Amino acid sequence: MTARPKVIVTRRLPAQVEAALRGRFSVELSADDRPTDADTLQRALGAADGLLATVTDKLTAEVLAAYPIRARIIANFGVGYDNIDLGAAQAHEITVTNTPDVLTDCTADLAMTLILMTLRRAGEGERELRSGRWSGWRPTHMMGTRVTGKVLGLVGMGRIARAVAHRAHHGFGMRILCYDPSPPSPVELAGVEAEPRATLEALLAESDVVSLHCPSTPATRGMMNAARLAQMKPGAFLINTARGDVIDDSAVISALASGQLAGAGLDVFRGEPNIDRRYADLENVVLLPHLGSATRETREAMGFRAIENLAAFFEGRPVPDRVV
Ligand code: 8YV
Repeated sequence: MTARPKVIVTRRLPAQVEAALRGRFSVELSADDRPTDADTLQRALGAADGLLATVTDKLTAEVLAAYPIRARIIANFGVGYDNIDLGAAQAHEITVTNTPDVLTDCTADLAMTLILMTLRRAGEGERELRSGRWSGWRPTHMMGTRVTGKVLGLVGMGRIARAVAHRAHHGFGMRILCYDPSPPSPVELAGVEAEPRATLEALLAESDVVSLHCPSTPATRGMMNAARLAQMKPGAFLINTARGDVIDDSAVISALASGQLAGAGLDVFRGEPNIDRRYADLENVVLLPHLGSATRETREAMGFRAIENLAAFFEGRPVPDRVV
């Protein structure tokens, strides 16, 4: 009998996923659940046949230049893979996989959570109540913005954006615009009530709420800068469940402080978990700690999807979610 492939897992995973990993591979699970540093990642790449990694593992070209590398596959736990230098992985003939589909609904739900919380000032209201500052009901108390009938502009029109479009249109009566430099196929767009715009500028100028659903790439990093924020309607709202580095924090903070942006709802941040602390002083921003896919059902499904990618790879079957 051939030895079972050795898989190193960088973070704690739901118990059922860890049990399944133990059943299929010679597995080294994370004991302390801490973010990994470059040395730890390089040791893992040298010691395992496969790495089950997450967004907190920075698999840069420098890290992937480790020698010798034994790992032949990095199964990323997440749909995004901007934590991995794909060019370097390819150069070292390492297969990279992700976990699409299984987190679409929950991430779309979280984008809706942020839209509703931000327009209806839910975070602000909760803080007032908890701190004992609520003086009681009054007609002019904490008036927010009506969601029904507003224009929602989706930047990036992949699976998650399409699921947001469905919820926002059919559930909350919003009109949906979308912009994607690589638009989905007509089949993927069938039944999605969204009006495409040819440019990002056109979408920004017409939207009451802009929600970001693009990956972090050299083309999108810093995309929502001062110039782009100025193209938005005065008093519009910005929602980010994509990646923190697609917005310019200083520009967003200035726009929130001046009222140019009425509010923002953010689930992802540049340099997580060390966010720009100036956000915490602003009442008109809702801040969540990267909860997009954080439901028990989805985190288990992501784990099983990563396991299937590893199993297919080691058994020589086609790898379902191969990125490179
Ligand atoms: C994941 C995410 O939880 O899937 C993604 O791209 O941003 C999150 O929902 C995270 O990536 C875990 O690695």
